Amino acid sequence: MSHTSSPPQSAQFRHIGTLHGDITVPGDKSISHRALMLSALAVGESRISGLLEGEDVLATAAAMRAMGSHIERGSDGDWRVHGVGVGGLLQPTQALDMGNSGTSTRLLLGLLASHAITATFVGDASLSARPMGRVIEPLSRMGADIHATDGRLPLMLRGMAPAIPISYRLPVASAQVKSAIMLAALNTPGMCEIIEPVPTRDHSERMLAGFGANVVVELVNGVRHIRVAGEAQLRPQSLTVPGDPSSAAFFAVAASIIPGSNITIRNVGMNPTRSGIFKLLRAMGGDIVEENARIVGGEAVADLVVRHASLCAVEPDPADAPSMIDEFPVAFIAAALADGRSIFRGLDELRVKESDRISAMVAALKMMGAVAEELPDGIAITGSSGEILPGGGNIAGLLDHRICMASAIGGLMCHAPVTIDDMAPVATSFPTFAQILRKLHSDS
Ligand code: S3P
Repeated sequence: MSHTSSPPQSAQFRHIGTLHGDITVPGDKSISHRALMLSALAVGESRISGLLEGEDVLATAAAMRAMGSHIERGSDGDWRVHGVGVGGLLQPTQALDMGNSGTSTRLLLGLLASHAITATFVGDASLSARPMGRVIEPLSRMGADIHATDGRLPLMLRGMAPAIPISYRLPVASAQVKSAIMLAALNTPGMCEIIEPVPTRDHSERMLAGFGANVVVELVNGVRHIRVAGEAQLRPQSLTVPGDPSSAAFFAVAASIIPGSNITIRNVGMNPTRSGIFKLLRAMGGDIVEENARIVGGEAVADLVVRHASLCAVEPDPADAPSMIDEFPVAFIAAALADGRSIFRGLDELRVKESDRISAMVAALKMMGAVAEELPDGIAITGSSGEILPGGGNIAGLLDHRICMASAIGGLMCHAPVTIDDMAPVATSFPTFAQILRKLHSDS
């Protein structure tokens, strides 16, 4: 049952003490989506260990099954995927339900755009409010016929095979748009090129190369040019998905702001295009030590030891935003407990995530009794210098997992409980969030 069909699960959070212990966060959501999609396009059986079993990733798995690939979870927890080969996807017989997942939607639109498939995409209220024009535009140039009301879901796509190769300069810094074109390129004759003025997460580039696709990344005058050769043949792989830095971030902030805390987060993905939040926390004075740095499945991974520290205010460089784009809600919580006024700018993209994360977090911070001001492209926050916040308010999660989890972490530094109206969306990306939080409290 997806969170949209379940009754609301309200929950309360307040300061109940320090966090201690050793935790492992679930698999990376971005890498899990890509692992399923590419395995479903390889010829033969791939194995995936550490796959995130959250609702968003399960929506991708269901869509790939509906288009002919065989996907099952073994009793050992590993997933086995029998791929159909690039160009071999089948016509789905029903609408593809993307739930809350923007990544499933945008990446699958790309994948289907170069297959002779007609498909309808539907999603929940949050996803149906998000802009799809950013992928419709380049995929239409490749020949796909896409109908959407107002550039949003529900949407109907008729793919084009053979599609037309394009060279496309990304107008927004978006790994989803980049990846949609890369996936469309796989079944397109010739070479597609994506020009990426602002670097974004590079999991698609890394994983496609691992599956044997011809992907070349070149820096031209400091700008990334990514070329993907079409009519690719992908070889099945054994993949290990590292822990999600976006999930680790909630507990890294929690341990940083709660006095006396000392935690270890194992197996955290540290790809530089993703780990901006840890850099930011360090710039604020955070005490984060990386141990056992290693490479897992072509991705940098480390264990993080995080201890409480007195944080100071920051003004992050907007150029760093893509490397922590999903972590801003919880970064705002760190700023609310820091010493001084933090100013975050250049964050227009936050307005088109699962919710408008700027206005959602301003409202949440005010409910906690923090001092926050909404800016057109960001937020200004005057921190409490480590003082516990009053708390006591009601927070709307707005079908946005990261607003729910960031608010919960903020609640851990509030005197009176903050109530979050519905924590069910957390199941999209981090089903074990509450369980891990309980463990960190009980180990204290
Ligand atoms: C993602 C890219 C980002 C991020 C999202 C996952 C991905 O979105 O916010 O959670 O897996 O490619 P944008 O590409 O819209 O920035």
